[in-house]
Amino acid sequence: MDQFTIFGFFIFILRSCSGIQHEEDYLKFPPGFSIGSASSAYQVEGAWNVSGKGPSVWDWFTHKKDSIVVGQATGDIACDSYHKYKEDIAMMKDIGFRHYRFSLSWTRILPTGLPDKISQEGLQYYKDLIDEVRRQGMEPFVTIYHWDHPEFMTRLGSWTNELMVQYYAEYARVVFRELGSRVKLWATVNEPEQNCRLGFGRDVHAPGINLPHFGEYLCLHNYLKAHARAYHIYDEEFRAEQGGQVGIVHLCEPFFPQPSDDLELKRIGFETGCAWGTYPIFSKEGNYPQVLRDRINENSKLEGLPFSRLPEFSPEWIERIRGSFDFLGINIYTAREVRALPREANGKWPNDFGVELIINETWPENNSWLRVVPQGMGEILRTIRDVYDNPPVYIMENGATSAKGFKDYNRIEYLYGYMKEMLLAINRDGCNVKGYTVWSFLDSFEWSDGYSDFFGLVEVNFSDPKRKRTPRLSTKWLKQIMKKGRLINIKDIGQLH
Ligand SMILES: *[C@@H]1O[C@H](CO)[C@@H](O)[C@H](O)[C@H]1NC(C)=O
Ligand SMILES: *[C@@H]1O[C@H](CO)[C@@H](O)[C@H](O)[C@H]1NC(C)=O
Ligand SMILES: *[C@@H]1O[C@H](CO)[C@@H](O)[C@H](O)[C@H]1NC(C)=O
Ligand SMILES: *[C@@H]1O[C@H](CO)[C@@H](O)[C@H](O)[C@H]1NC(C)=O
Repeated sequence: MDQFTIFGFFIFILRSCSGIQHEEDYLKFPPGFSIGSASSAYQVEGAWNVSGKGPSVWDWFTHKKDSIVVGQATGDIACDSYHKYKEDIAMMKDIGFRHYRFSLSWTRILPTGLPDKISQEGLQYYKDLIDEVRRQGMEPFVTIYHWDHPEFMTRLGSWTNELMVQYYAEYARVVFRELGSRVKLWATVNEPEQNCRLGFGRDVHAPGINLPHFGEYLCLHNYLKAHARAYHIYDEEFRAEQGGQVGIVHLCEPFFPQPSDDLELKRIGFETGCAWGTYPIFSKEGNYPQVLRDRINENSKLEGLPFSRLPEFSPEWIERIRGSFDFLGINIYTAREVRALPREANGKWPNDFGVELIINETWPENNSWLRVVPQGMGEILRTIRDVYDNPPVYIMENGATSAKGFKDYNRIEYLYGYMKEMLLAINRDGCNVKGYTVWSFLDSFEWSDGYSDFFGLVEVNFSDPKRKRTPRLSTKWLKQIMKKGRLINIKDIGQLH
């Protein structure tokens, strides 16, 4: 037994004796912990052709004659937050939130998509928005790009084309230069792996490139390079003067191995559910996880290809991407069970990752596609702590849909369960989590689901030309939490009205 083992044992004894009282302490938010909520430009702004804004890929995707969006809905007006942002921010302030996460529309700032022309009117909108967030005592948490790149790039193959790396980097440089004196927290891109799967491996998100087991790999490859370029631009040209932090937002869904004691499968589950996009940045050695490289390589060979469908990084790019972060942002909604799939007779993996993802039918359903699995929050945070040496983490999206109307008890239950698991991971297990963000502040344009899924803490009437907002019950519950600085169960605050 060395001194660390003895120390650990001592802590164990202390914890075992402390009992229930500490359980209560675990539900306090640590000092400086930030809670807020979120949106993205295309989902809430509207004003799609105002301020000289150029067309984005989502303008194009939703205006297409054969649009697959539910109800052929568009974000032309959405929540009209372009005009109503002050009302939104006042409501956030009333709840007591500490930060607001929102994204910038690339073509509102650069109408052609390239830095030959900067829209002063577009920039002014974001300066006003940021200033208003600060005036109301909150920190702006700015996502530079949330899926709505310039339309013309789609005709060049969008993220499958390496030119995107430079285009994105030039845009990011303009953003840092013009807005960086006002912003301390930057996220370069949002959920690249999900955008690549749905928009490049499939056709359900813009740009609908639909090249399965191929398009998504090219896409993520260029996304990771673009992120790293922007990170280093900030580091080399702006950090000294502006002193902010730059991170990235990944979808990190917890995958539980089945059988649950299969540790290798647990690792592979993490590598497929979170590490495809995070390992190249956050691991010590960089590059994609070995198991993904091996399996996609083997499958490609057996298909008769002289190269792997998973592109390779040069050693220079591995180094440039590795460590390009000040924090890790993660989005989490639900979970899956993961089972190993044996190779087929010809030696191929049945799919590139060699695992099957399953929904455990005991996990409760709640109003939409997502199963409520709060234990997944603790699971993914502890895995990130262990695999990536406990980096600073911000939860950038977590939330559930509710039915129309004011009474969103199910959202309160959902958020309570997930926040409790997060607090145990922080206060009991030492996970380095700095902030938590509810998705979303308003009911929004939910991509291919249009206006059929309601994630908002605040209801929006999309039939009303004024887009009237009505805060739901969950905002009253959150207000109590913000006031007390600890998580409270709805049962402990009596009736909310
Ligand atoms: C902008 O789009 C709206 C439809 O959403 C249309 O009514 C309006 O004429 C357009 N304005 C301009 C300047 O093109
Ligand atoms: C589903 O989850 C339950 C409860 O966590 C667990 O006991 C069970 O083993 C899981 N079911 C399957 C089929 O894996
Ligand atoms: C969602 O969860 C709440 C609280 O647990 C429950 O009362 C409600 O029936 C659930 N709704 C659906 C549609 O499953
Ligand atoms: C939404 O707005 C429309 C148009 O103003 C109105 O007729 C309708 O009653 C509103 N719906 C709700 C639930 O308030």
